[in-house]
Amino acid sequence: MIIPTPSRSSPRPGSYALGPDTPLHVADPALAPVARVLREQLLPGTGCTLPPGRGGIELALSGELAADPGAGPESYRLTIGPDGIRIAAGGPAGAFYGVQTLRQLLPPHTLRHSALDEGPWDVAGVEIEDRPRFAWRGVLLDVARHFFTKRDVLRVLDQMALHKLNVLHFHLTDDQGWRLEVKRYPRLTEIGSWRTESKPGWNETGDGRPHGGYYTQDDIREIVAYAAARHILVVPEVDVPGHTQAAIAAYPELGNTGAQLAVETGWGVKSDILNVADGTLDFVRNVFDEVIELFPSPIICVGGDECPKDQWKASPAAQARMAELGLRNEDELQSWFIRQVSDHLEARGRQLLGWDEILEGGLPPAATIVSWRDNHGAVRAAREGHQVITSPARQVYLDYRASDSADEPVPVGTVLPVEEVYAFEPVPEELRGTPAADLVIGAQCGLWTEAIDNVRALDYQAFPRMSAFAETVWCDATRDGAAFAERLAHHLGRLEALGVEYRSPEGPRPWERRPGVRGRPVTLEEYLAEVEADTRNIR
Ligand code: ACM
Repeated sequence: MIIPTPSRSSPRPGSYALGPDTPLHVADPALAPVARVLREQLLPGTGCTLPPGRGGIELALSGELAADPGAGPESYRLTIGPDGIRIAAGGPAGAFYGVQTLRQLLPPHTLRHSALDEGPWDVAGVEIEDRPRFAWRGVLLDVARHFFTKRDVLRVLDQMALHKLNVLHFHLTDDQGWRLEVKRYPRLTEIGSWRTESKPGWNETGDGRPHGGYYTQDDIREIVAYAAARHILVVPEVDVPGHTQAAIAAYPELGNTGAQLAVETGWGVKSDILNVADGTLDFVRNVFDEVIELFPSPIICVGGDECPKDQWKASPAAQARMAELGLRNEDELQSWFIRQVSDHLEARGRQLLGWDEILEGGLPPAATIVSWRDNHGAVRAAREGHQVITSPARQVYLDYRASDSADEPVPVGTVLPVEEVYAFEPVPEELRGTPAADLVIGAQCGLWTEAIDNVRALDYQAFPRMSAFAETVWCDATRDGAAFAERLAHHLGRLEALGVEYRSPEGPRPWERRPGVRGRPVTLEEYLAEVEADTRNIR
């Protein structure tokens, strides 16, 4: 009943009684941080302090698993019998995942924040051998459209850890808000982190309530360290050159028109984008310098999506830049822009990640692509030799409505039920069986937040669909919907114990309903035409 289901699991005789006296033996100093998180995670709901000693839980590294190319550092073997619980791992990450499996083998109420009883709890004998299918098992969290507090983000990291998800793609900036403190440019947060109001439910009238917030650099350091302890990489995204209205509102000289803009209050693709002046490129490089200092991630996302080129077409300065560089069109100008950032990142030992739009005018050789507009970007990028992460909106954007019910609280027309997320296959059909398939390093689901304005609504959209997504990136390509449904029914008890307000299988409860505009469901063809034309105003 583990989610994601392990690669192999076979029962063994007997059981182990885990209780307040269970000791913990850490066989390798490299596993001390895993032991610390194990204690932190187990103590509240069980009362177990896990004093050092043998005969209880043992955490060890396995040279055999580490050396096996089919296993690797994220693999583990969990053996439970009357003598104890042993987790042998290919590396610290594998040991951490063994611990997450162990948490799921205990009764769900032991995931609560206080112990309801003192145990002991019988854990049935078993041998589990487990490893992930993909290295990149991501969740995108958009904190720009609606701000989520540091505490909310830490909570998402906890939820990801339980599901063995290991990348938080942190969408920190957009037209509607700039959420990252940048010391050199204080107005980014003084001005750019606040908007006067929002347009809930895509309604044209605003709600009249200011919205905003940002993370200080110390908040970011805390989030990054908290994630690292849970073997989660935080990949920051500062979206350029489009999706930058909040930055331009703070520093009008970054824009193409010189107009004093406000931080955007509506949704959809916006026409104000960065200009291509030397000073603006310097600004971008300086911002990324602070990003690099805060985020140890080897890969940094520069966005590059949904960048209408109308302002560049109308701007004599942009046209002069194109002529000077010998560029044929504005797509090539965007590629040039991205390459400036890419060169800067590479000179500092970091790689560039961008949305599939950055393919359009030619791509820096070392760039990795997140493909979101169906799979065509993924196929093209992989065939051109780039690493790819798939995130096709219609299959894994969890802000889409979870059912056809008119009571769903989001205005998005297109329906994405949990069963369809479970059916998602990260490797596009066109690449399967070809060498380029190996360039698909994983996938990520998307929690975009135009329509998600509080943490309860975030839980509702994320779960249980994120649990289904976790299976698609951890497990092999076979799918058994009935078996998953059975696992999920049990798993909901865990989510409940953790205080996750998942969407009930019965549908939205009265207080979760939000009547409002409902976009029409779009066909795949219509959808692709809209995103190609950058006219998509509803997800
Ligand atoms: C995206 O959904 N604009 C990447």
